Amino acid sequence: MDAVLVEWLSMIVRWLHVIAGIAWIGSSFYFIALDLSLRQRSGLPAGVQGEAWQVHGGGFYHMVKYLVAPDRVPDELTWFKWEAYTTWLSGFALLVLVYYLGAELFLIDRTVMDLTPQMAIALSVGSLAGAWLLYEALCRSPLGRSETALSVVGYLFLVAATWGFTEVFSGRAAFVQIGALIGTMMVANVFVVIIPNQKKTIAALFAGQSPDPALGRQAKQRSVHNNYLTLPVVLLMISNHYPLLFATRYNWVIVAILLALGPVIRHFFNSRHAGKGSPWWTWGVAAAGLAAIGWLSAAGPRDAVVGAADAPAPTFAAVEEIVLSRCSMCHADEAVWLGVPAAPKGVKLDTPERIHQHARQIELYAVRSGAMPPGNITDMPVEERAVLAAWLAAGATRE
Ligand code: HEC
Repeated sequence: MDAVLVEWLSMIVRWLHVIAGIAWIGSSFYFIALDLSLRQRSGLPAGVQGEAWQVHGGGFYHMVKYLVAPDRVPDELTWFKWEAYTTWLSGFALLVLVYYLGAELFLIDRTVMDLTPQMAIALSVGSLAGAWLLYEALCRSPLGRSETALSVVGYLFLVAATWGFTEVFSGRAAFVQIGALIGTMMVANVFVVIIPNQKKTIAALFAGQSPDPALGRQAKQRSVHNNYLTLPVVLLMISNHYPLLFATRYNWVIVAILLALGPVIRHFFNSRHAGKGSPWWTWGVAAAGLAAIGWLSAAGPRDAVVGAADAPAPTFAAVEEIVLSRCSMCHADEAVWLGVPAAPKGVKLDTPERIHQHARQIELYAVRSGAMPPGNITDMPVEERAVLAAWLAAGATRE
Protein backbone atom coordinates (compact mmCIF):
# COMPACT_ATOMS: atom_id res chain seq x y z
CA MET A 1 0.00 0.00 0.00
CA ASP A 2 1.14 3.56 -0.60
CA ALA A 3 3.35 4.76 2.26
CA VAL A 4 1.68 8.16 2.55
CA LEU A 5 -1.80 6.61 2.60
CA VAL A 6 -0.74 4.19 5.33
CA GLU A 7 0.71 7.09 7.31
CA TRP A 8 -2.59 9.01 7.23
CA LEU A 9 -4.67 5.94 7.96
CA SER A 10 -2.47 5.09 10.89
CA MET A 11 -2.85 8.60 12.27
CA ILE A 12 -6.65 8.50 12.05
CA VAL A 13 -6.93 4.99 13.47
CA ARG A 14 -4.49 5.81 16.29
CA TRP A 15 -6.55 8.85 17.19
CA LEU A 16 -9.68 6.71 17.37
CA HIS A 17 -7.86 4.01 19.32
CA VAL A 18 -6.60 6.40 21.98
CA ILE A 19 -10.02 8.04 22.37
CA ALA A 20 -11.84 4.69 22.59
CA GLY A 21 -9.25 3.44 25.08
CA ILE A 22 -9.71 6.52 27.24
CA ALA A 23 -13.48 6.03 27.19
CA TRP A 24 -13.14 2.35 28.06
CA ILE A 25 -10.56 2.68 30.82
CA GLY A 26 -12.25 5.80 32.10
CA SER A 27 -15.61 4.11 32.49
CA SER A 28 -14.11 0.95 33.90
CA PHE A 29 -12.02 2.84 36.49
CA TYR A 30 -15.11 4.83 37.32
CA PHE A 31 -17.25 1.76 37.95
CA ILE A 32 -14.55 -0.01 39.97
CA ALA A 33 -14.21 3.05 42.20
CA LEU A 34 -17.98 3.39 42.45
CA ASP A 35 -18.38 -0.28 43.33
CA LEU A 36 -15.78 -0.05 46.07
CA SER A 37 -17.23 3.13 47.53
CA LEU A 38 -20.78 1.75 47.95
CA ARG A 39 -21.93 1.86 51.58
CA GLN A 40 -24.78 0.03 53.29
CA ARG A 41 -27.32 1.88 55.38
CA SER A 42 -30.68 0.92 56.75
CA GLY A 43 -33.68 1.78 54.66
CA LEU A 44 -32.21 0.90 51.27
CA PRO A 45 -34.59 -1.04 48.98
CA ALA A 46 -34.41 -4.86 49.01
CA GLY A 47 -31.61 -6.29 46.85
CA VAL A 48 -29.50 -3.15 47.07
CA GLN A 49 -25.87 -3.76 48.00
CA GLY A 50 -25.11 -0.16 48.88
CA GLU A 51 -25.30 3.45 47.87
CA ALA A 52 -22.89 6.23 47.06
CA TRP A 53 -23.23 9.97 46.74
CA GLN A 54 -21.10 11.81 44.23
CA VAL A 55 -20.75 15.36 43.01
CA HIS A 56 -19.70 16.20 39.49
CA GLY A 57 -20.25 18.89 36.91
CA GLY A 58 -22.55 21.01 39.03
CA GLY A 59 -24.89 18.31 40.29
CA PHE A 60 -25.22 15.55 42.87
CA TYR A 61 -25.60 11.92 41.95
CA HIS A 62 -27.16 9.28 44.12
CA MET A 63 -26.03 5.84 42.97
CA VAL A 64 -27.39 2.54 44.25
CA LYS A 65 -26.26 -0.89 43.15
CA TYR A 66 -28.63 -3.85 42.90
CA LEU A 67 -26.55 -6.91 43.50
CA VAL A 68 -28.15 -9.49 41.23
CA ALA A 69 -30.78 -7.38 39.50
CA PRO A 70 -33.72 -5.14 40.34
CA ASP A 71 -37.12 -6.90 40.49
CA ARG A 72 -38.21 -5.34 37.25
CA VAL A 73 -36.39 -4.40 34.09
CA PRO A 74 -35.92 -0.63 33.85
CA ASP A 75 -37.37 1.03 30.74
CA GLU A 76 -34.05 2.50 29.78
CA LEU A 77 -30.76 0.82 30.43
CA THR A 78 -27.35 2.15 29.41
CA TRP A 79 -24.84 -0.49 28.36
CA PHE A 80 -21.09 -0.11 28.40
CA LYS A 81 -19.58 -2.22 25.69
CA TRP A 82 -18.74 -0.23 22.56
CA GLU A 83 -15.89 1.52 24.37
CA ALA A 84 -14.20 -1.89 24.70
CA TYR A 85 -15.13 -3.19 21.24
CA THR A 86 -14.00 0.00 19.51
CA THR A 87 -10.71 -0.09 21.37
CA TRP A 88 -10.03 -3.61 20.15
CA LEU A 89 -11.18 -3.05 16.57
CA SER A 90 -9.12 0.11 16.16
CA GLY A 91 -6.18 -1.48 17.96
CA PHE A 92 -6.21 -4.47 15.65
CA ALA A 93 -6.46 -2.16 12.63
CA LEU A 94 -3.42 -0.31 13.92
CA LEU A 95 -1.54 -3.56 14.39
CA VAL A 96 -2.25 -4.35 10.73
CA LEU A 97 -1.25 -0.88 9.50
CA VAL A 98 1.97 -0.54 11.46
CA TYR A 99 3.20 -4.06 12.14
CA TYR A 100 1.69 -6.26 9.42
CA LEU A 101 2.03 -3.89 6.47
CA GLY A 102 5.41 -2.79 7.84
CA ALA A 103 6.43 -6.28 8.93
CA GLU A 104 9.94 -6.09 7.44
CA LEU A 105 10.68 -2.94 9.39
CA PHE A 106 8.79 -3.36 12.65
CA LEU A 107 7.61 -6.92 13.24
CA ILE A 108 10.62 -8.93 12.15
CA ASP A 109 14.17 -8.78 13.42
CA ARG A 110 16.31 -11.21 11.42
CA THR A 111 18.93 -11.35 14.15
CA VAL A 112 16.19 -12.71 16.45
CA MET A 113 14.48 -15.01 13.94
CA ASP A 114 14.58 -15.05 10.18
CA LEU A 115 10.87 -15.00 9.41
CA THR A 116 9.02 -14.07 6.24
CA PRO A 117 6.31 -11.43 6.73
CA GLN A 118 3.64 -14.10 6.16
CA MET A 119 5.08 -16.33 8.87
CA ALA A 120 5.47 -13.45 11.31
CA ILE A 121 1.90 -12.25 10.75
CA ALA A 122 0.53 -15.78 11.11
CA LEU A 123 2.42 -16.16 14.40
CA SER A 124 1.12 -12.84 15.65
CA VAL A 125 -2.55 -13.51 14.81
CA GLY A 126 -2.33 -17.17 15.83
CA SER A 127 -0.86 -16.40 19.23
CA LEU A 128 -3.55 -13.80 19.95
CA ALA A 129 -6.27 -16.38 19.30
CA GLY A 130 -4.43 -19.26 20.99
CA ALA A 131 -3.59 -17.33 24.13
CA TRP A 132 -7.14 -16.15 24.51
CA LEU A 133 -8.51 -19.70 24.19
CA LEU A 134 -6.05 -20.88 26.82
CA TYR A 135 -7.02 -18.07 29.19
CA GLU A 136 -10.70 -18.85 28.71
CA ALA A 137 -10.03 -22.54 29.45
CA LEU A 138 -8.05 -21.62 32.59
CA CYS A 139 -10.84 -19.40 33.94
CA ARG A 140 -13.43 -22.12 33.38
CA SER A 141 -11.26 -24.90 34.80
CA PRO A 142 -11.29 -25.83 38.53
CA LEU A 143 -8.28 -23.53 38.86
CA GLY A 144 -10.58 -20.63 38.05
CA ARG A 145 -12.31 -21.06 41.40
CA SER A 146 -9.25 -19.87 43.27
CA GLU A 147 -8.44 -16.24 42.55
CA THR A 148 -4.88 -16.66 43.86
CA ALA A 149 -4.05 -19.82 41.91
CA LEU A 150 -5.52 -18.30 38.76
CA SER A 151 -3.51 -15.09 39.15
CA VAL A 152 -0.25 -16.94 39.71
CA VAL A 153 -0.76 -19.26 36.73
CA GLY A 154 -2.03 -16.38 34.59
CA TYR A 155 0.99 -14.26 35.49
CA LEU A 156 3.47 -17.04 34.67
CA PHE A 157 1.66 -17.67 31.43
CA LEU A 158 1.93 -14.01 30.39
CA VAL A 159 5.63 -13.87 31.29
CA ALA A 160 6.28 -17.05 29.30
CA ALA A 161 4.39 -15.62 26.33
CA THR A 162 6.44 -12.42 26.54
CA TRP A 163 9.67 -14.38 26.57
CA GLY A 164 8.44 -16.36 23.58
CA PHE A 165 7.61 -13.20 21.64
CA THR A 166 11.05 -11.71 22.29
CA GLU A 167 12.54 -14.88 20.79
CA VAL A 168 10.46 -14.51 17.63
CA PHE A 169 9.76 -10.83 16.90
CA SER A 170 11.66 -7.56 17.17
CA GLY A 171 11.70 -6.23 20.74
CA ARG A 172 9.38 -3.44 19.78
CA ALA A 173 6.87 -5.82 18.20
CA ALA A 174 7.15 -8.25 21.13
CA PHE A 175 5.99 -5.52 23.52
CA VAL A 176 3.06 -4.51 21.35
CA GLN A 177 2.19 -8.16 20.77
CA ILE A 178 1.98 -8.98 24.49
CA GLY A 179 0.01 -5.76 24.97
CA ALA A 180 -2.36 -6.78 22.18
CA LEU A 181 -2.67 -10.26 23.66
CA ILE A 182 -3.68 -8.92 27.07
CA GLY A 183 -5.95 -6.34 25.44
CA THR A 184 -7.63 -9.11 23.46
CA MET A 185 -8.24 -11.11 26.65
CA MET A 186 -9.72 -8.03 28.28
CA VAL A 187 -12.08 -7.20 25.41
CA ALA A 188 -13.05 -10.86 25.08
CA ASN A 189 -13.96 -10.77 28.78
CA VAL A 190 -16.44 -8.04 27.95
CA PHE A 191 -17.68 -9.65 24.73
CA VAL A 192 -17.84 -13.32 25.75
CA VAL A 193 -18.60 -13.20 29.48
CA ILE A 194 -19.60 -9.87 30.96
CA ILE A 195 -22.14 -8.65 28.39
CA PRO A 196 -23.69 -12.09 27.60
CA ASN A 197 -24.10 -12.77 31.32
CA GLN A 198 -25.82 -9.44 31.79
CA LYS A 199 -28.13 -10.30 28.88
CA LYS A 200 -28.96 -13.65 30.46
CA THR A 201 -29.77 -11.91 33.73
CA ILE A 202 -32.15 -9.57 31.97
CA ALA A 203 -33.75 -12.39 30.00
CA ALA A 204 -34.41 -14.20 33.27
CA LEU A 205 -36.03 -11.08 34.70
CA PHE A 206 -38.27 -10.76 31.65
CA ALA A 207 -39.24 -14.39 31.99
CA GLY A 208 -40.24 -13.72 35.58
CA GLN A 209 -37.51 -15.99 36.95
CA SER A 210 -34.86 -15.00 39.45
CA PRO A 211 -31.50 -14.65 37.68
CA ASP A 212 -28.61 -16.93 38.59
CA PRO A 213 -26.21 -15.05 40.90
CA ALA A 214 -23.30 -17.09 39.43
CA LEU A 215 -23.64 -15.05 36.23
CA GLY A 216 -22.86 -11.87 38.11
CA ARG A 217 -19.97 -13.49 39.98
CA GLN A 218 -18.35 -14.70 36.75
CA ALA A 219 -18.67 -11.26 35.24
CA LYS A 220 -17.18 -9.71 38.35
CA GLN A 221 -14.17 -12.06 38.22
CA ARG A 222 -13.38 -11.01 34.64
CA SER A 223 -13.91 -7.39 35.49
CA VAL A 224 -11.34 -7.71 38.31
CA HIS A 225 -8.83 -9.23 35.87
CA ASN A 226 -9.38 -6.32 33.52
CA ASN A 227 -8.84 -3.87 36.35
CA TYR A 228 -5.47 -5.34 37.26
CA LEU A 229 -4.27 -5.67 33.68
CA THR A 230 -5.07 -2.12 32.62
CA LEU A 231 -1.95 -0.30 33.80
CA PRO A 232 0.60 -2.69 32.26
CA VAL A 233 -1.30 -2.76 28.96
CA VAL A 234 -1.26 1.01 28.63
CA LEU A 235 2.49 1.14 29.18
CA LEU A 236 3.07 -1.72 26.73
CA MET A 237 1.08 0.19 24.12
CA ILE A 238 3.25 3.30 24.45
CA SER A 239 6.48 1.37 25.04
CA ASN A 240 7.67 1.86 21.46
CA HIS A 241 8.68 5.41 22.42
CA TYR A 242 11.14 4.01 24.96
CA PRO A 243 13.94 1.99 23.35
CA LEU A 244 15.54 1.24 26.74
CA LEU A 245 12.42 -0.78 27.59
CA PHE A 246 11.93 -2.86 24.48
CA ALA A 247 15.31 -3.01 22.76
CA THR A 248 17.57 -4.10 25.59
CA ARG A 249 18.70 -7.59 26.47
CA TYR A 250 16.38 -8.30 29.42
CA ASN A 251 13.31 -6.78 27.79
CA TRP A 252 11.13 -9.75 28.75
CA VAL A 253 12.14 -9.48 32.42
CA ILE A 254 11.19 -5.81 32.24
CA VAL A 255 7.71 -6.82 31.08
CA ALA A 256 7.51 -9.38 33.90
CA ILE A 257 8.16 -6.58 36.40
CA LEU A 258 5.64 -4.26 34.73
CA LEU A 259 2.97 -6.95 34.84
CA ALA A 260 3.50 -7.23 38.58
CA LEU A 261 3.66 -3.48 39.24
CA GLY A 262 0.36 -2.64 37.55
CA PRO A 263 -1.72 -4.67 40.02
CA VAL A 264 0.29 -3.35 42.97
CA ILE A 265 -0.52 0.25 42.05
CA ARG A 266 -4.16 -0.61 41.36
CA HIS A 267 -4.27 -2.15 44.83
CA PHE A 268 -3.40 1.23 46.32
CA PHE A 269 -6.35 2.91 44.62
CA ASN A 270 -8.73 0.01 45.19
CA SER A 271 -7.99 0.10 48.94
CA ARG A 272 -8.50 3.83 49.14
CA HIS A 273 -11.75 3.73 47.21
CA ALA A 274 -13.00 0.96 49.46
CA GLY A 275 -12.25 3.17 52.47
CA LYS A 276 -9.68 0.66 53.72
CA GLY A 277 -6.86 3.13 54.06
CA SER A 278 -3.89 3.89 51.83
CA PRO A 279 -1.32 1.11 51.54
CA TRP A 280 1.65 3.43 50.90
CA TRP A 281 4.02 0.45 50.70
CA THR A 282 2.69 -0.11 47.18
CA TRP A 283 4.52 3.03 46.02
CA GLY A 284 7.71 1.74 47.61
CA VAL A 285 7.32 -1.51 45.67
CA ALA A 286 6.56 0.42 42.48
CA ALA A 287 9.67 2.59 42.92
CA ALA A 288 11.83 -0.47 43.57
CA GLY A 289 10.38 -2.16 40.49
CA LEU A 290 11.09 0.86 38.30
CA ALA A 291 14.63 1.06 39.67
CA ALA A 292 15.08 -2.62 38.83
CA ILE A 293 13.84 -1.92 35.29
CA GLY A 294 16.33 0.91 34.92
CA TRP A 295 19.12 -1.33 36.15
CA LEU A 296 18.15 -4.19 33.82
CA SER A 297 17.97 -1.87 30.83
CA ALA A 298 21.62 -0.92 31.41
CA ALA A 299 22.59 -4.32 30.00
CA GLY A 300 22.27 -2.70 26.58
CA PRO A 301 21.17 -4.29 23.31
CA ARG A 302 20.68 -8.04 22.91
CA ASP A 303 24.10 -8.53 21.40
CA ALA A 304 25.90 -5.76 23.38
CA VAL A 305 29.67 -5.76 23.62
CA VAL A 306 30.70 -5.67 27.27
CA GLY A 307 33.14 -2.90 28.10
CA ALA A 308 32.72 -1.37 24.63
CA ALA A 309 32.89 2.18 25.93
CA ASP A 310 36.40 1.60 27.30
CA ALA A 311 37.86 1.28 23.80
CA PRO A 312 40.00 4.21 22.55
CA ALA A 313 37.94 7.08 21.12
CA PRO A 314 37.44 6.72 17.36
CA THR A 315 37.77 9.62 14.94
CA PHE A 316 34.57 11.46 13.99
CA ALA A 317 35.15 10.31 10.43
CA ALA A 318 34.78 6.69 11.57
CA VAL A 319 31.54 7.54 13.35
CA GLU A 320 30.22 9.39 10.34
CA GLU A 321 30.96 6.45 8.09
CA ILE A 322 29.02 4.08 10.33
CA VAL A 323 26.00 6.36 10.59
CA LEU A 324 25.98 7.11 6.86
CA SER A 325 26.13 3.43 5.98
CA ARG A 326 23.60 2.17 8.58
CA CYS A 327 21.17 5.01 9.23
CA SER A 328 21.06 7.68 6.56
CA MET A 329 19.25 5.65 3.90
CA CYS A 330 16.14 6.35 5.98
CA HIS A 331 17.21 9.36 8.02
CA ALA A 332 17.89 11.87 5.24
CA ASP A 333 16.19 14.72 3.39
CA GLU A 334 15.38 12.23 0.66
CA ALA A 335 14.96 8.85 2.33
CA VAL A 336 15.84 6.12 -0.15
CA TRP A 337 14.36 3.21 1.79
CA LEU A 338 11.22 1.74 0.27
CA GLY A 339 8.21 2.41 2.49
CA VAL A 340 9.89 5.26 4.39
CA PRO A 341 8.32 8.38 2.87
CA ALA A 342 10.36 11.00 4.75
CA ALA A 343 13.02 11.14 7.45
CA PRO A 344 11.26 9.23 10.28
CA LYS A 345 10.27 11.49 13.20
CA GLY A 346 12.19 14.28 11.48
CA VAL A 347 15.49 12.70 12.55
CA LYS A 348 18.08 13.34 9.83
CA LEU A 349 21.51 11.74 10.07
CA ASP A 350 23.01 12.56 6.69
CA THR A 351 25.56 15.32 7.38
CA PRO A 352 28.34 15.69 9.98
CA GLU A 353 26.42 18.50 11.73
CA ARG A 354 23.23 16.49 11.97
CA ILE A 355 25.02 13.39 13.21
CA HIS A 356 26.81 15.43 15.85
CA GLN A 357 23.57 17.15 16.85
CA HIS A 358 21.81 13.82 17.35
CA ALA A 359 24.51 12.24 19.50
CA ARG A 360 22.11 11.71 22.44
CA GLN A 361 19.49 10.06 20.26
CA ILE A 362 22.08 7.87 18.58
CA GLU A 363 23.16 6.84 22.08
CA LEU A 364 19.64 5.88 23.17
CA TYR A 365 18.53 4.20 19.96
CA ALA A 366 21.66 2.51 18.65
CA VAL A 367 24.14 2.14 21.52
CA ARG A 368 22.32 1.72 24.83
CA SER A 369 19.56 -0.14 23.00
CA GLY A 370 19.30 -1.90 19.69
CA ALA A 371 16.09 -0.11 18.64
CA MET A 372 17.73 1.29 15.52
CA PRO A 373 18.17 0.32 12.76
CA PRO A 374 14.66 -1.16 13.04
CA GLY A 375 14.92 -4.94 13.16
CA ASN A 376 18.64 -4.33 12.45
CA ILE A 377 17.57 -4.24 8.83
CA THR A 378 20.85 -2.65 7.68
CA ASP A 379 22.88 -5.34 9.49
CA MET A 380 24.73 -3.11 11.88
CA PRO A 381 27.35 -5.31 13.56
CA VAL A 382 28.01 -5.09 17.31
CA GLU A 383 31.53 -3.83 16.68
CA GLU A 384 30.09 -0.69 15.10
CA ARG A 385 27.84 -0.07 18.09
CA ALA A 386 30.98 -0.41 20.18
CA VAL A 387 32.73 2.28 18.10
CA LEU A 388 29.75 4.62 18.64
CA ALA A 389 29.83 3.80 22.36
CA ALA A 390 33.51 4.72 22.60
CA TRP A 391 32.85 7.96 20.71
CA LEU A 392 30.02 8.88 23.12
CA ALA A 393 32.11 7.93 26.15
CA ALA A 394 34.85 10.27 24.96
CA GLY A 395 32.39 13.18 24.81
CA ALA A 396 30.94 12.79 21.28
CA THR A 397 33.18 15.45 19.75
CA ARG A 398 33.65 16.29 16.07
CA GLU A 399 37.35 15.54 15.99
C1 HEC B 1 15.21 1.23 7.38
C2 HEC B 1 15.04 2.55 7.81
C3 HEC B 1 15.78 3.04 9.05
C4 HEC B 1 17.11 2.94 9.33
C5 HEC B 1 18.17 2.28 8.50
C6 HEC B 1 17.29 3.61 10.60
N1 HEC B 1 16.11 4.09 11.05
FE1 HEC B 1 15.84 5.24 12.70
N2 HEC B 1 13.84 5.25 12.35
C7 HEC B 1 13.20 4.61 11.31
C8 HEC B 1 11.78 4.72 11.48
C9 HEC B 1 10.73 4.16 10.54
C10 HEC B 1 11.58 5.45 12.66
C11 HEC B 1 10.24 5.84 13.29
C12 HEC B 1 9.83 4.78 14.21
C13 HEC B 1 8.45 4.99 14.74
O1 HEC B 1 7.54 5.22 13.96
O2 HEC B 1 8.32 4.91 15.95
C14 HEC B 1 12.89 5.80 13.16
C15 HEC B 1 13.10 6.57 14.29
C16 HEC B 1 14.36 6.93 14.75
C17 HEC B 1 14.60 7.87 15.82
C18 HEC B 1 13.57 8.72 16.51
C19 HEC B 1 12.72 7.98 17.46
C20 HEC B 1 11.71 8.89 18.12
O3 HEC B 1 10.58 8.42 18.24
O4 HEC B 1 12.04 10.00 18.46
C21 HEC B 1 15.96 7.92 15.99
C22 HEC B 1 16.71 8.77 16.99
C23 HEC B 1 16.55 7.01 15.04
N3 HEC B 1 15.56 6.45 14.30
C24 HEC B 1 17.90 6.78 14.95
C25 HEC B 1 18.46 5.91 14.03
C26 HEC B 1 19.86 5.56 13.99
C27 HEC B 1 20.91 6.12 14.94
C28 HEC B 1 20.04 4.69 12.96
C29 HEC B 1 21.31 4.01 12.53
C30 HEC B 1 22.02 3.27 13.54
C31 HEC B 1 18.74 4.50 12.35
N4 HEC B 1 17.81 5.24 13.03
C32 HEC B 1 18.51 3.71 11.24
C33 HEC B 1 13.81 4.00 10.24
C34 HEC B 1 15.15 3.76 10.14
